Amino acid sequence: MHFQISDIVMEVEIHALGTPLVLLHGFPMNHTLWEPVVPHLFPGIQAILPDLRGQGKTSTPAGTYSMERMAHDMVELLDALKIDTAVVAGHSMGGYVALRFAHDHPDRLAGLGLVATQAQPDSPERKHNRVEIADRVLKEGVQSLADSMAPNLTVKPEWVEPLRKMILATSPIGAAGAQRGMANREDARSWLPDLKVPVTILAPTADTVISPARSVEMQNLIPGSELVQVPGAGHCPMLEYPGIVGEALVRLVQRAEKFSAVA
Ligand code: MLT
Repeated sequence: MHFQISDIVMEVEIHALGTPLVLLHGFPMNHTLWEPVVPHLFPGIQAILPDLRGQGKTSTPAGTYSMERMAHDMVELLDALKIDTAVVAGHSMGGYVALRFAHDHPDRLAGLGLVATQAQPDSPERKHNRVEIADRVLKEGVQSLADSMAPNLTVKPEWVEPLRKMILATSPIGAAGAQRGMANREDARSWLPDLKVPVTILAPTADTVISPARSVEMQNLIPGSELVQVPGAGHCPMLEYPGIVGEALVRLVQRAEKFSAVA
């Protein structure tokens, strides 16, 4: 399905009916990253899998994709779907967007899932590196990004090639826009103590892209949050251990349902 969302046409896969759960993918990937988890969410959950701005089959406008802009895209998607509040779970860059959504649009949030992500902003070196990558992909395409990133995104060799293909399908303009947006993202740590909804943090213990220690730091700052370690998983636990990720998300949705019933 696709929806006109301000200046873009957004590609969205929607499964089943029930409590809305929006699943945001990481960089430079697309919604198919979450597909292995979907069968573990039925029944009672409506899984909504968008391709974020510039990624997958969603339009790729030129420019910088701020986390704020991408969070606002999600509000417009909820409006288009006539959904008042949703549980939002984000993986890695999708987690940066989910945190921004929680900060900017708390009235639209029923629960928050943070998967292999972090609240910290980039170091000056990392920012610089992202700008270099953005410039390079615009000149040379995404091949080198695919070759360098794919092996680090998983500990399971069988997932390297599908991830490489997913990155190769990303538009250079989209990859550059997201890199620039991530480089400019704000420090989200001060927002965490104010989160009012149920929160689940998923920490793959063998993640070499974002340290699982970042998940523990977020849990310490979010009152009542649940930390789920995924033993031996790399940066993409939804591919490697979809059952564990699905089970944790189902529990999050159930907590969110109870919370909205009493709120
Ligand atoms: C991701 O998986 O979304 C990215 O690697 C996150 C990042 O570059 O910070």
